[in-house]
Amino acid sequence: MSISELFRTRSIQDLVKETGREGEQLKKTMGPVTLTALGVGAIIGTGIFVVIGEGAKLAGPAVILAFVLAGITCAFSALSYAELASAVPVSGSAYTFSYATLGELVAFIIGWDLILEYGVSVAAVAVGWGGNVNEFLKSAFSFELPAAITKSPSEGGVINVFAVVIVLLITLLLTLGTRESATINAVMVGVKIVILLFFIVVAFTAFSGRHFEPFTPKGIPGIAAAASTIFFAYIGFDAVTTASEETKKPARDLPIAIIGSLLISTVLYVLVSFTAVGIASTKSLGDSDAPLSTALREGAGIPWAGAVLSLGALIAITSVVLVIMYGQTRIFFAMCRDGLLPRRLARVSPRFGTPVQITVGFGLLISVLAALVPLDVIVELTNIGTLFAFVLVNIGVIVLRRTRPELERPFRVPFVPVLPIIGILLCGTLIVQLPIETKLRFVAWLIIGLVIYVAYSRRHSRVRTGEQTDLPPAEDA
Ligand code: ALA
Repeated sequence: MSISELFRTRSIQDLVKETGREGEQLKKTMGPVTLTALGVGAIIGTGIFVVIGEGAKLAGPAVILAFVLAGITCAFSALSYAELASAVPVSGSAYTFSYATLGELVAFIIGWDLILEYGVSVAAVAVGWGGNVNEFLKSAFSFELPAAITKSPSEGGVINVFAVVIVLLITLLLTLGTRESATINAVMVGVKIVILLFFIVVAFTAFSGRHFEPFTPKGIPGIAAAASTIFFAYIGFDAVTTASEETKKPARDLPIAIIGSLLISTVLYVLVSFTAVGIASTKSLGDSDAPLSTALREGAGIPWAGAVLSLGALIAITSVVLVIMYGQTRIFFAMCRDGLLPRRLARVSPRFGTPVQITVGFGLLISVLAALVPLDVIVELTNIGTLFAFVLVNIGVIVLRRTRPELERPFRVPFVPVLPIIGILLCGTLIVQLPIETKLRFVAWLIIGLVIYVAYSRRHSRVRTGEQTDLPPAEDA
């Protein structure tokens, strides 16, 4: 194996042309509004409804500043995502961008890394969903389900049934078609924006300045640690770029959706964290599994509003499961199509216009994880994986400006390389804040990926084999 082989890139024209191959073509159904909804659908979920409590524990009332810091960190990377998405409008997100800019090895590693960000996090988000079902039943009907069917083995249960149910339902939806999934997602996004606005308005009625003292009990380190944790709440705007091939005008609509969805979420997060701190002590936020709901029930003393909020959280988290899982299937799809993973999996069902084998395969795999894996740890592991992907996307922008200066870029990051470098430094700062165990687990994950690359992907890569024949359309699943 030569060194140059590891850094071979795919030509952008080739990547774009390939999206029209018979039997591997996805339906183009999405416009800027649906796409922005896809972004908000992926972003607003467990992070603001659950992880905010962890942030409050680490930073105190200054968790508000942690949301601002994490939002700014994401903004720089979002600009880089927007430029690459407009220049390389092909499914696969950071994986595809890296293939076009940094070479095959980095692309594979990123694709592998994204399985962590998307696939594994879906399992965690689904577990959070299951927990919320229980929370809702408790607050609305004073009815509690036994731990055996609501918790993973390491938390004293047997199997998390609700987490499995949500994953399998979403798998079914994604198999049936993208348009149907996007429409249902748009409805859920509407609900979650309304529910957060509901929280903000109700919380303002009971707002008190006394919870803001002391504002930064753990100083700057506390804010930085909180930012690296609640960063989880912003993950998802990059999922928009996994939908490039199903977008009618990707060069225009992807940048709108990436930046628009991040902006909407940031404004909501800052307002929600501000009002949450205004009605509840950061200790009570930190101690709760459903902090916003607890804040309304205990802090503001309005129990019915707490019940409404936990129902809203369920809907919000459902759309996160939907979009992130959708993103996972599309990234895997792109890797299979490139030969880095088995190609026959990339077939699109002519009946549904979706990659059925990948969708069902991931659905089953994730549901097993969701049934058995506890929530803790996964958030930080997901964060480090995502931050790493963001670093590479920022590097990708700088490299591509040098290697392909003439390339048409409908959206351009201003002041390159300054802004991408700031993006890299900010992501690096958040990575440094994460616990050492997280970093070790992440390295172990990358090493497994490397072994697969050397043993399988390197040899089957289509760039290497030069294989160009179209796959026959798949039999209907
Ligand atoms: N940002 C997503 C959430 O908060 C992953 O659930």
